[in-house]
Amino acid sequence: MACTVLLGTQWGDEGKGKITDLLARDQDAVVRFQGGNNAGHTIVVGDVKFKLHIVPSGVIREGVAAVIGDGCVVDPWVLDKELRDLESRGISTSNVVVSDRAHLIMPYHRELDRVQEASRAGSSRVGTTGRGIGPCYQDKMGRTGIRASDLRYPSLLEEKVRKGCRDASAICGALGGPVTFDPDEVLGKLRALEGNLVPRTRDAPALLNDMLDRGARVLLEGAQGTFLDIDRGTYPYVTSSSCSTGNASAGSGIGPSWFERVIGVSKAYTTRVGEGPFPTELNDHVGEMMREVGREFGTTTNRPRRCGWLDLVLVRSSVRWNSIGELALTKTDVLSTLKEVKVCTEYALPRETAERCGLPTVIRDFPSHLELLKECRPIYRTLKGWGELSKEEWEAHRSDGTLPQGLDGYVSLIEREVLAAVTLVSYGPGREETIELGGS
Ligand code: IMP
Repeated sequence: MACTVLLGTQWGDEGKGKITDLLARDQDAVVRFQGGNNAGHTIVVGDVKFKLHIVPSGVIREGVAAVIGDGCVVDPWVLDKELRDLESRGISTSNVVVSDRAHLIMPYHRELDRVQEASRAGSSRVGTTGRGIGPCYQDKMGRTGIRASDLRYPSLLEEKVRKGCRDASAICGALGGPVTFDPDEVLGKLRALEGNLVPRTRDAPALLNDMLDRGARVLLEGAQGTFLDIDRGTYPYVTSSSCSTGNASAGSGIGPSWFERVIGVSKAYTTRVGEGPFPTELNDHVGEMMREVGREFGTTTNRPRRCGWLDLVLVRSSVRWNSIGELALTKTDVLSTLKEVKVCTEYALPRETAERCGLPTVIRDFPSHLELLKECRPIYRTLKGWGELSKEEWEAHRSDGTLPQGLDGYVSLIEREVLAAVTLVSYGPGREETIELGGS
C-alpha cells in the first residue's frame, strides 16, 4: 500500500484523529494536506489524551514522519506551542516537518478573521473558528502570502510582513476595526520562534516522493470534512480549503497514481459547528443526549455542536466525490441507549421545487445550492438499536471481529445505501476500542 487517504465524510469532527492514529501504526509518514489549526484532533492512548490542532496525528507514533504539507496554513505560534507541549509530555517532535511551501498565519490574519466575521450581518455569518484561516488563504490566492520558506530570507520576509501589516490595517480600518499592526512587533515575535521552526522546514513533496520511491507507506490525513469543502460543501458556510481526495494530491505534492486506498470517516450520527442548514438536525432530547454522551463540544473553540441523525445523502455524495472504498464508523457507543435509531437515506422535495429545478421529488445526491437544501425533507428508515454493552461484551466483539445485533443491521444499511464497505467500527475514544471488520 503506497498511499492511503483519510477524509471526513460529514461536517468535520468525525473522529479522524483516532482513526489516523490507529492506521499510523503501519505507516512511515502521516501528512496533513489542507487547513490549519481550525482542526482539532483528539487522540486517547491509555489514560492520556492528546489534542492536536496543526501537528499531524501520526506524531504520537514513534518513527512516523509527521508532515505539514504544502496546502496547509500554519500559525507558527500555535505550532511552536503544540510542539513544546508534546515534548513536555514525552513525545518526540524531531520527526515533525513543515513544508516550506505552506503559508504562515500572521497575527493580522487572526484579527481580520474576527473583523470580517463581525462585519457579516446575521445569517451571513460563517461562524468561523477565528483562527485566521480564511484571511491567510485569501493572501495565498491573492499571491501576497508569506510561506514558511520565506523565514530563510530575512529581507524578503521583512518586506512581506510590512506589506501584510499595511494591507491588513487598511482592510480592518475599512471594516470598522480599530486595529493597526506593527510590523516590527510581528517580525520580532517571528524571530523568537525561528529556532524551533526553520530547521523543520523542508521541501515536503521532494521528501515524500523520495520516501515513496523507496517503498514507504504514507497516510494523507484530511482535516474538516466533505461538507466544509470550499467547492462541494454548504457554501458559504464552509472552510477556505478543499477537504477532498483531489486536494490530498495538490496539497501534498504526491501524484494521485500513488493513491491506493481512500477511507472515509463517518460518525454514527451527524454533527456540525457554526452556521448553515442541517436537514437531520434534532432540537430535542435525542439531540441533547448525543451532545452530552458524545461530548459534542468543539476541540478548538469549545462551542456546542449541533447534533442529528445519520444522513446518508451526505455520506453517499462524499463516497462518490472522493472515490471512498472503505468507511470507518465512529462513536457507535453514543447511540446505544436508544431503542430505535433513524437513518436518512434520501431527501424529499416539494413537487413545485422539483419541477422548477428539473429534479425528481426524491433525491439521493446532496444538492448544490443552499436554497434547495433548505427545502429538503429527510426520508428516514427506522431500525432497532443495539442496546448498551458492557466493556467485556464490546471486547468480545472486537476480538472476534463481529458486530453486536442491531449494529450489524445499521452497518449493512449504510453499506447498501452508499456503496462502500465499513471496515472499522469505533465504540470509544481509546485506540483499542475499535472493531476491525477486515479489508485493511
Ligand atoms: P474556518 O475554517 O475557521 O474559516 O471556519 C469555517 C467553518 O468551518 C465554520 O463553520 C467552522 O465552524 C467550520 N470548521 C472549521 N474547522 C472545523 C473542524 O475542524 N471541525 C468542524 N468544523 C470546522
